[in-house]
Amino acid sequence: MDSQTLFMRHLICLTLLIALVGCKTEPKAPETESLAKRENPFNERFRPQYHFTPPTHWMNDPNGLVYHNGTYHLFYQYYPEDIVWGPMHWGHATSTDLVDWEHQAVALFPDELGYIFSGSAVMDIQNTSGLGTEDKPAMVAFYTYHDAEGEKEGRNDFQTQGMAFSLDEGETWTKYEGNPVIGNPDNIRDFRDPKVFWHEASKRWVLVLVAGDHAKIYTSPNLKDWTYQSDFGKDQGAHGGVWECPDLFELEIGETREKKWVLLISINPGAPNGGSGTQYFVGDFDGKKFTSTQTEPKWIDYGTDNYAGVTYNNMPENERIFIGWMSNWNYAQKTPTQVWRSAMTLSRKLSLHKAADYYLKSIPVDALNNYTELAEKRATVRSGDRITEASWNDKKLSFTIPGTLTDFKVVFSNVLGESVCIAYDAEAQQFLLDRTHSGLTDFEPRFADQVHEGPFIAATDQPTTLTLYLDRSSLELFVNEGELVMTEQLFPTQPYTELLFESPDQVLTNFKYATVKSIWTNNQNQ
Ligand code: FRU
Repeated sequence: MDSQTLFMRHLICLTLLIALVGCKTEPKAPETESLAKRENPFNERFRPQYHFTPPTHWMNDPNGLVYHNGTYHLFYQYYPEDIVWGPMHWGHATSTDLVDWEHQAVALFPDELGYIFSGSAVMDIQNTSGLGTEDKPAMVAFYTYHDAEGEKEGRNDFQTQGMAFSLDEGETWTKYEGNPVIGNPDNIRDFRDPKVFWHEASKRWVLVLVAGDHAKIYTSPNLKDWTYQSDFGKDQGAHGGVWECPDLFELEIGETREKKWVLLISINPGAPNGGSGTQYFVGDFDGKKFTSTQTEPKWIDYGTDNYAGVTYNNMPENERIFIGWMSNWNYAQKTPTQVWRSAMTLSRKLSLHKAADYYLKSIPVDALNNYTELAEKRATVRSGDRITEASWNDKKLSFTIPGTLTDFKVVFSNVLGESVCIAYDAEAQQFLLDRTHSGLTDFEPRFADQVHEGPFIAATDQPTTLTLYLDRSSLELFVNEGELVMTEQLFPTQPYTELLFESPDQVLTNFKYATVKSIWTNNQNQ
């Protein structure tokens, strides 16, 4: 973006801010707040109330997403001794609906082979590994061993792939005696993040990992012995940073019978709005090799805070559920929280569609509707309307823009003048998300150095729907049921209490909002 455009964008939101100063109202404290505080162990100022966070300390990537016996397991990169990154463990949480999470004991600890970096988990239902039985299948985790000593000594083979298994639903784990299951004979410095899944057509296990600027695919009959098969991506997609956290899965396109494979690749730095982001490729996979004619990157999310996201293995239906880490390596270690650091995105369902080209949509899982309580509905909201609430930072909000999409903006603000602005710029065909004055922003310059852009070509004479989820320190925007997604962290020092809509020629229809209940209250297991 050139500096003149940047200046204009700030000006758009600044003009609104000046208008807002004249209409200060004291925010009403929610009546239930003191009660909730007593009952809720996780009620710190910025603690998201319906997103997963670790009880204390540092978290990054989601790991080992696997469903079994009615339970969704979420493992995650965890450093249980500090709120910055350190020797990695796998933390563990479980859920029966992908919204309400119970913290579990730490699952995997570093050992003499290294820290436990990102990876995946499978259920070995047919006991191909012999590590469990057919009655009691093993949950098998694959992760990267990061040998910090080796790295310090200047070696290049300090990342290898390890395996561990659990026979009690992920509660206790045994490291496989033959580790590492994939060594690093070619001395590849960034060699990590194995995603393993069962490939029914070839009746084999497939493992995809990243090796700096490309992905590598391996196969195995038994999870223990792996054969290298192919590489993908040296000359395709975005290469502004190192490739990380791959995932590979098949999806049916809309309601058609056509199926395609999708490869997710996180990249840091090199995302469209700076720092970390996740690109995807649509193509074909024959059990050994992934191919795609796509040369340009596509992005799963244009916000700055959705990284290292991967999907669930072993789902009952043919569903693809995705969870990302709601942060960005540009500032992740400096965000203004003290007890814990980082949250996950909402759990999202992915679907594949085709217009001029293939594209992914992502929307929050349906179960989230069980946590919402309708607060208000309005048939129409007109330009200049202000709607006041005790807090917008616990709300799901949706509305339609009828007719062809033209310029508009929605601004959430608090009595201190902190605000976040969501706008559409019809000329540039972009949604804009401006958090430059959203609250605490100065903990790292790259947090608020630019207005973020999400490209969106509006169809003529078609309505556009927007759904927004605001939690205490996050905002997730879904346009047209996830055709465009923007996920961002925000740190307002007080909740936003006012919503202002402005547009030269638009109104909003079907405007409604709901309060989203906290997942941390009345939870027996914390
Ligand atoms: C992605 C990542 C992974 C790595 C892990 C280490 O955020 O860098 O590539 O396995 O974090 O914590």
